Amino acid sequence: KDKVTIHTLKRLKQAGQKICMVTAYDATFARLLDESGADVLLVGDSLGMVVQGHDSTLPVTMEQMIYHSVAVNRGAKRAHVVGDMPFMSYQTSVEAAVRNAGRLVAEGGVGSVKLEGGAEFADTVAAITRASIPVMGHLGLTPQSVHKMGGYVVQGKDEQAARKILQDALALERAGAYALVLEGVPVELARQITQRLSIPTIGIGAGVECDGQVLVCYDLLGMNPDFKPKFVKRYADLHGSITGAASTFFNEVRAGSFPDDDHSFHSKTLRLVASNT
Ligand code: KIV
Ligand code: NA
Repeated sequence: KDKVTIHTLKRLKQAGQKICMVTAYDATFARLLDESGADVLLVGDSLGMVVQGHDSTLPVTMEQMIYHSVAVNRGAKRAHVVGDMPFMSYQTSVEAAVRNAGRLVAEGGVGSVKLEGGAEFADTVAAITRASIPVMGHLGLTPQSVHKMGGYVVQGKDEQAARKILQDALALERAGAYALVLEGVPVELARQITQRLSIPTIGIGAGVECDGQVLVCYDLLGMNPDFKPKFVKRYADLHGSITGAASTFFNEVRAGSFPDDDHSFHSKTLRLVASNT
Protein backbone atom coordinates (compact mmCIF):
# COMPACT_ATOMS: atom_id res chain seq x y z
CA LYS A 1 0.00 0.00 0.00
CA ASP A 2 1.38 3.39 -1.00
CA LYS A 3 1.98 5.93 1.72
CA VAL A 4 -0.63 8.68 1.83
CA THR A 5 0.83 12.14 1.18
CA ILE A 6 -0.60 15.66 1.10
CA HIS A 7 -0.95 15.16 -2.67
CA THR A 8 -3.08 12.04 -2.15
CA LEU A 9 -5.40 14.14 0.02
CA LYS A 10 -5.80 16.85 -2.61
CA ARG A 11 -6.56 14.18 -5.23
CA LEU A 12 -9.20 12.67 -2.95
CA LYS A 13 -10.96 16.05 -2.77
CA GLN A 14 -10.78 16.48 -6.54
CA ALA A 15 -12.19 12.97 -7.03
CA GLY A 16 -15.00 13.66 -4.55
CA GLN A 17 -13.72 10.90 -2.25
CA LYS A 18 -13.87 11.43 1.49
CA ILE A 19 -10.73 11.74 3.63
CA CYS A 20 -10.66 9.61 6.77
CA MET A 21 -8.69 11.06 9.69
CA VAL A 22 -8.54 9.95 13.31
CA THR A 23 -6.35 10.81 16.27
CA ALA A 24 -3.71 8.41 17.61
CA TYR A 25 -1.36 8.82 20.53
CA ASP A 26 0.67 5.61 20.61
CA ALA A 27 2.06 2.91 18.31
CA THR A 28 -0.56 0.27 19.12
CA PHE A 29 -3.52 2.51 18.27
CA ALA A 30 -1.65 3.86 15.23
CA ARG A 31 -1.18 0.31 13.92
CA LEU A 32 -4.84 -0.60 14.55
CA LEU A 33 -6.22 2.55 12.94
CA ASP A 34 -3.81 2.42 9.99
CA GLU A 35 -4.78 -1.20 9.42
CA SER A 36 -8.46 -0.11 9.50
CA GLY A 37 -7.92 2.26 6.58
CA ALA A 38 -7.17 5.68 8.07
CA ASP A 39 -5.79 8.12 5.49
CA VAL A 40 -4.47 10.49 8.13
CA LEU A 41 -3.43 9.90 11.75
CA LEU A 42 -3.42 13.05 13.86
CA VAL A 43 -1.22 13.20 16.91
CA GLY A 44 -3.68 15.64 18.46
CA ASP A 45 -2.93 17.86 21.40
CA SER A 46 -6.26 16.44 22.61
CA LEU A 47 -3.86 13.97 24.25
CA GLY A 48 -3.65 16.57 27.03
CA MET A 49 -7.25 15.70 27.84
CA VAL A 50 -7.69 12.03 26.92
CA VAL A 51 -4.20 10.73 27.80
CA GLN A 52 -3.05 13.16 30.49
CA GLY A 53 -6.43 13.92 32.08
CA HIS A 54 -6.23 17.72 31.93
CA ASP A 55 -9.42 19.69 31.31
CA SER A 56 -7.90 21.54 28.35
CA THR A 57 -5.17 21.11 25.71
CA LEU A 58 -3.20 24.08 27.05
CA PRO A 59 -0.64 22.23 29.26
CA VAL A 60 0.70 20.05 26.41
CA THR A 61 4.39 20.64 25.66
CA MET A 62 6.61 20.23 22.59
CA GLU A 63 8.50 17.43 24.37
CA GLN A 64 5.24 15.52 24.88
CA MET A 65 4.09 16.05 21.29
CA ILE A 66 7.43 14.73 20.03
CA TYR A 67 7.27 11.70 22.35
CA HIS A 68 3.79 10.74 21.11
CA SER A 69 4.62 11.55 17.47
CA VAL A 70 7.56 9.14 17.50
CA ALA A 71 5.33 6.37 18.83
CA VAL A 72 2.51 7.00 16.33
CA ASN A 73 4.95 7.22 13.44
CA ARG A 74 6.32 3.78 14.35
CA GLY A 75 2.81 2.29 14.20
CA ALA A 76 1.73 4.01 10.98
CA LYS A 77 2.41 2.25 7.70
CA ARG A 78 0.12 3.76 5.04
CA ALA A 79 -1.44 6.78 6.79
CA HIS A 80 -0.01 10.29 6.66
CA VAL A 81 0.92 11.42 10.19
CA VAL A 82 0.12 14.99 11.27
CA GLY A 83 1.46 16.48 14.49
CA ASP A 84 -0.38 19.20 16.38
CA MET A 85 1.65 22.25 17.32
CA PRO A 86 0.97 22.66 21.06
CA PHE A 87 -0.14 25.87 22.77
CA MET A 88 2.63 28.51 22.82
CA SER A 89 4.85 26.62 20.37
CA TYR A 90 3.89 28.93 17.48
CA GLN A 91 2.06 31.95 18.97
CA THR A 92 5.08 33.91 20.25
CA SER A 93 6.92 34.45 16.97
CA VAL A 94 7.17 33.18 13.41
CA GLU A 95 10.74 32.09 14.12
CA ALA A 96 9.70 29.98 17.11
CA ALA A 97 6.91 28.48 15.03
CA VAL A 98 9.26 27.39 12.25
CA ARG A 99 11.76 25.95 14.74
CA ASN A 100 9.09 23.99 16.62
CA ALA A 101 7.43 22.74 13.42
CA GLY A 102 10.89 21.57 12.38
CA ARG A 103 11.31 19.68 15.66
CA LEU A 104 8.00 17.85 15.16
CA VAL A 105 9.20 16.72 11.73
CA ALA A 106 12.88 16.03 12.49
CA GLU A 107 12.50 14.58 16.01
CA GLY A 108 8.86 13.41 15.96
CA GLY A 109 8.90 12.06 12.43
CA VAL A 110 5.55 13.58 11.38
CA GLY A 111 4.82 14.39 7.73
CA SER A 112 3.09 17.69 8.43
CA VAL A 113 1.98 19.91 11.29
CA LYS A 114 -1.35 21.45 12.31
CA LEU A 115 -1.93 24.74 14.05
CA GLU A 116 -5.02 26.62 15.20
CA GLY A 117 -5.87 30.10 13.93
CA GLY A 118 -6.81 32.18 10.93
CA ALA A 119 -5.55 35.22 9.01
CA GLU A 120 -3.48 36.34 12.03
CA PHE A 121 -1.34 33.21 11.49
CA ALA A 122 -1.06 33.48 7.70
CA ASP A 123 2.57 34.65 7.99
CA THR A 124 3.32 31.74 10.31
CA VAL A 125 1.74 29.21 7.96
CA ALA A 126 3.64 30.71 5.00
CA ALA A 127 6.97 30.61 6.87
CA ILE A 128 6.56 26.98 7.96
CA THR A 129 5.46 26.02 4.45
CA ARG A 130 8.52 27.83 3.07
CA ALA A 131 10.63 25.52 5.25
CA SER A 132 9.09 22.64 3.26
CA ILE A 133 6.87 21.56 6.15
CA PRO A 134 3.24 21.19 5.02
CA VAL A 135 0.73 22.89 7.33
CA MET A 136 -2.85 21.89 8.09
CA GLY A 137 -5.01 24.75 9.40
CA HIS A 138 -7.68 24.48 12.10
CA LEU A 139 -10.61 26.94 12.34
CA GLY A 140 -13.91 27.32 14.14
CA LEU A 141 -13.93 25.85 17.63
CA THR A 142 -10.20 25.99 18.34
CA PRO A 143 -9.59 24.37 21.75
CA GLN A 144 -6.38 26.33 22.44
CA SER A 145 -8.58 29.48 22.47
CA VAL A 146 -10.94 28.09 25.13
CA HIS A 147 -10.57 31.15 27.36
CA LYS A 148 -11.13 33.59 24.50
CA MET A 149 -14.18 31.61 23.31
CA GLY A 150 -15.54 31.36 26.87
CA GLY A 151 -15.82 27.58 26.65
CA TYR A 152 -16.09 24.85 24.03
CA VAL A 153 -18.91 26.43 22.04
CA VAL A 154 -19.94 26.21 18.37
CA GLN A 155 -18.40 29.06 16.35
CA GLY A 156 -19.62 30.98 13.29
CA LYS A 157 -23.33 30.84 14.07
CA ASP A 158 -24.09 34.44 13.09
CA GLU A 159 -23.42 36.12 9.76
CA GLN A 160 -20.49 38.22 10.99
CA ALA A 161 -18.72 35.35 12.75
CA ALA A 162 -19.27 33.06 9.77
CA ARG A 163 -17.86 35.65 7.38
CA LYS A 164 -14.74 35.97 9.57
CA ILE A 165 -14.16 32.19 9.51
CA LEU A 166 -14.62 32.07 5.72
CA GLN A 167 -12.08 34.90 5.33
CA ASP A 168 -9.69 33.05 7.66
CA ALA A 169 -10.06 29.89 5.57
CA LEU A 170 -9.25 31.77 2.38
CA ALA A 171 -6.25 33.43 4.07
CA LEU A 172 -4.88 30.05 5.20
CA GLU A 173 -5.26 28.63 1.70
CA ARG A 174 -3.45 31.66 0.22
CA ALA A 175 -0.71 31.24 2.85
CA GLY A 176 -0.09 27.71 1.59
CA ALA A 177 -2.00 25.45 3.99
CA TYR A 178 -2.60 22.07 2.34
CA ALA A 179 -5.79 21.20 4.25
CA LEU A 180 -8.04 22.64 6.91
CA VAL A 181 -9.80 21.21 9.95
CA LEU A 182 -13.20 22.80 10.57
CA GLU A 183 -14.32 22.16 14.13
CA GLY A 184 -17.65 23.03 15.76
CA VAL A 185 -19.23 25.14 13.01
CA PRO A 186 -22.69 25.02 11.38
CA VAL A 187 -23.12 22.70 8.39
CA GLU A 188 -24.06 25.70 6.25
CA LEU A 189 -20.73 27.44 6.90
CA ALA A 190 -18.65 24.28 6.43
CA ARG A 191 -20.40 23.70 3.10
CA GLN A 192 -19.55 27.21 1.84
CA ILE A 193 -15.92 26.97 2.93
CA THR A 194 -15.56 23.53 1.38
CA GLN A 195 -16.95 24.81 -1.94
CA ARG A 196 -14.78 27.93 -1.94
CA LEU A 197 -11.46 26.20 -1.16
CA SER A 198 -9.36 24.06 -3.47
CA ILE A 199 -7.66 22.46 -0.44
CA PRO A 200 -9.56 19.75 1.46
CA THR A 201 -11.62 20.53 4.55
CA ILE A 202 -11.79 17.94 7.32
CA GLY A 203 -14.69 18.33 9.69
CA ILE A 204 -15.37 17.52 13.32
CA GLY A 205 -18.78 18.75 14.40
CA ALA A 206 -18.99 20.50 11.04
CA GLY A 207 -21.45 18.37 9.08
CA VAL A 208 -21.23 15.87 6.27
CA GLU A 209 -20.28 18.23 3.46
CA CYS A 210 -16.63 18.60 4.41
CA ASP A 211 -14.10 16.76 2.25
CA GLY A 212 -13.27 14.47 5.16
CA GLN A 213 -14.02 13.76 8.79
CA VAL A 214 -11.94 13.42 11.94
CA LEU A 215 -12.77 12.13 15.40
CA VAL A 216 -10.76 11.54 18.55
CA CYS A 217 -10.12 7.77 18.60
CA TYR A 218 -11.14 7.35 22.25
CA ASP A 219 -14.45 9.10 21.47
CA LEU A 220 -15.43 7.03 18.42
CA LEU A 221 -14.48 3.86 20.30
CA GLY A 222 -16.69 4.82 23.26
CA MET A 223 -14.02 4.75 25.94
CA ASN A 224 -15.45 7.52 28.15
CA PRO A 225 -19.19 7.19 28.96
CA ASP A 226 -19.24 10.67 30.56
CA PHE A 227 -18.16 12.49 27.36
CA LYS A 228 -21.02 12.58 24.88
CA PRO A 229 -21.09 15.81 22.87
CA LYS A 230 -23.53 15.96 19.95
CA PHE A 231 -20.86 15.59 17.24
CA VAL A 232 -19.41 12.32 18.58
CA LYS A 233 -20.79 9.04 17.33
CA ARG A 234 -19.71 5.94 19.22
CA TYR A 235 -18.89 3.08 16.90
CA ALA A 236 -17.98 0.75 19.76
CA ASP A 237 -18.42 0.44 23.51
CA LEU A 238 -14.82 -0.04 24.58
CA HIS A 239 -15.75 1.28 28.01
CA GLY A 240 -18.01 -1.74 28.39
CA SER A 241 -15.54 -4.13 26.75
CA ILE A 242 -12.59 -2.96 28.85
CA THR A 243 -14.35 -2.79 32.21
CA GLY A 244 -16.04 -6.13 31.46
CA ALA A 245 -12.78 -7.86 30.56
CA ALA A 246 -10.79 -6.34 33.42
CA SER A 247 -13.43 -7.08 36.06
CA THR A 248 -13.63 -10.70 34.87
CA PHE A 249 -9.85 -10.95 35.29
CA PHE A 250 -10.05 -9.51 38.80
CA ASN A 251 -12.90 -11.88 39.72
CA GLU A 252 -10.88 -14.89 38.55
CA VAL A 253 -7.81 -13.70 40.46
CA ARG A 254 -9.87 -13.28 43.62
CA ALA A 255 -11.48 -16.69 43.09
CA GLY A 256 -8.09 -18.33 42.52
CA SER A 257 -9.20 -19.63 39.12
CA PHE A 258 -6.61 -17.67 37.13
CA PRO A 259 -4.07 -18.72 36.03
CA ASP A 260 -5.29 -22.20 35.20
CA ASP A 261 -3.06 -24.95 33.84
CA ASP A 262 -3.32 -23.65 30.26
CA HIS A 263 -1.72 -20.40 31.32
CA SER A 264 1.01 -21.85 33.55
CA PHE A 265 4.47 -23.34 32.96
CA HIS A 266 5.60 -26.81 33.97
CA SER A 267 8.96 -28.54 34.25
CA LYS A 268 9.33 -32.29 34.01
CA THR A 269 12.85 -32.28 35.43
CA LEU A 270 12.36 -29.93 38.28
CA ARG A 271 12.21 -31.64 41.69
CA LEU A 272 10.43 -30.05 44.57
CA VAL A 273 12.82 -27.71 46.25
CA ALA A 274 13.45 -29.37 49.58
CA SER A 275 12.82 -27.18 52.51
CA ASN A 276 15.79 -26.81 54.84
CA THR A 277 13.77 -27.64 57.88
O1 KIV B 1 -6.28 17.53 19.02
C1 KIV B 1 -7.17 17.02 18.31
O2 KIV B 1 -7.63 15.89 18.56
C2 KIV B 1 -7.68 17.78 17.17
C3 KIV B 1 -8.79 17.19 16.37
C4 KIV B 1 -10.04 17.11 17.15
C5 KIV B 1 -9.01 17.92 15.09
O3 KIV B 1 -7.18 18.83 16.91
NA1 NA C 1 -5.73 19.67 18.44
